[in-house]
Amino acid sequence: MAILTIPKENRTINEPAAIADYLAGIGVDYEIWEPSASVAADAPAEEILTAYSTEIEKLKEGGGYVTADVIDVKPQTQGLDEMLAKFNREHWHDDDEVRFIIEGRGLFHLHPKDAPVVAVEVEAGDLIRVPAGFLHWFNLCADRRIRAIRLFKDPAGWTPHYTASGVDGDFQPLCFGASYIPALAQ
Ligand SMILES: [Fe+2]
Repeated sequence: MAILTIPKENRTINEPAAIADYLAGIGVDYEIWEPSASVAADAPAEEILTAYSTEIEKLKEGGGYVTADVIDVKPQTQGLDEMLAKFNREHWHDDDEVRFIIEGRGLFHLHPKDAPVVAVEVEAGDLIRVPAGFLHWFNLCADRRIRAIRLFKDPAGWTPHYTASGVDGDFQPLCFGASYIPALAQ
């Protein structure tokens, strides 16, 4: 499950309900999802979307999302570095950024207007919804692997708008989960 850190306060939160509470306080939704039917993490995208259709429909209704797809990022994905470079600088979107993690992990840094920057490391089972306009940036962990369901109101709304604040440079993209130790050993 997710790990939340508040680097400026030297604070870490591991307990899912406490993570959800903290994130709700800054306007970000966090939930843990279990599929209604069991599905393999490497199943075809259509099977993944079917297995989570109840939850996806609920989100679509509540958030006005119209489409869902599955993004599949692997170390050998072509153009991966260019793709990552688009999202590892502080930005916002006109649409919500909704991700449900199927496999792998990733690190969101969230920059609320009047609270310290929070790092949320997400992994399989975690759903995060970063609202439109909320400043954030994203890194993969050392295994450079993430598979996630994405929901959109309008795919065009997901274009990043950069702040160029440089604040992202003040935070190390450190993951603390399973992939952290291999990264140190490299
Ligand atoms: Fe983003």
